[in-house]
Amino acid sequence: MNAFNTITYEKESGIALVTLNRPEQLNAFNIGMRDDLFDILQAIRDDDEVKVGILKGAGVKAFCAGADLSEFLSAPPPVAARRVRRQRDVWELFLSLPQPMIAAVHGYVLGSGIEMALCCDIRLASDDARFGLPEVALGIIPAAGGTQTLPRLIGRSKALELLLTNEWIDAAEAHGIGLVNRVVSREKLYDEARQLAEKIASHDPMAVRYAKQAMVQGLDLTLAQGLEVEKRLAAQLKAKGK
Ligand code: COA
Repeated sequence: MNAFNTITYEKESGIALVTLNRPEQLNAFNIGMRDDLFDILQAIRDDDEVKVGILKGAGVKAFCAGADLSEFLSAPPPVAARRVRRQRDVWELFLSLPQPMIAAVHGYVLGSGIEMALCCDIRLASDDARFGLPEVALGIIPAAGGTQTLPRLIGRSKALELLLTNEWIDAAEAHGIGLVNRVVSREKLYDEARQLAEKIASHDPMAVRYAKQAMVQGLDLTLAQGLEVEKRLAAQLKAKGK
């Protein structure tokens, strides 16, 4: 399935491979990419054959250099309102995918680049990755969920420092603050992501989905409510004969 202009989508042995594909523009996130991503995420969500997904960026220099500045900063207000709503739908969909997603990021990981990686469940970075949030310096704020997802992952203080200073950090620091799970060499990035995906895909897909759901859902609940969710999902899984 490659009927997309800005992203390539492949599926192999239960692994969905999603590649941001505007390398000449450093995979900057534009409206076309948003629409392609929405369609691809829906396809992944509805495809029982997909057990796990990998998100990566094409080209040498960047996973994604953020929102396409030529497009996003020039939209008139009524269009902007619709745009924000549709964007929110993409991020809600991304964050609610039943299958685990792995982000494999390299080079520039800026603005919505970080935010897309944050919509994934596990993040691998190559040692040349650089992370930054330029939005506030541009007079805007993140609109791909970053104000919510980043502090939940790395804590309020570090998240605000990144957001309010526009200071960019390297892969080692990103690992140190918990923004990425692992740092690997550039040559090994996709192999490592693939191996991780294969390991996940080798497990019972329902157990994988239920485990992800229990953990992700529980993060927005009290401990007592989260334990209820876990109990309910465990019972449902058992009822399915597991
Ligand atoms: N939106 C649109 N185009 C972008 C882009 C973006 N966010 N980031 C890079 N590009 C384009 C450049 O305009 C350039 O296009 P051109 O070859 O037609 O001139 C091409 O990608 C390569 O970028 P370039 O700036 O030449 O590469 P560089 O290595 O010198 O610098 C960056 C890389 C990431 C430091 C620089 O491109 C940059 O600052 N980009 C903007 C980052 C940003 O603020 N993003 C918005 C976050 S909200």
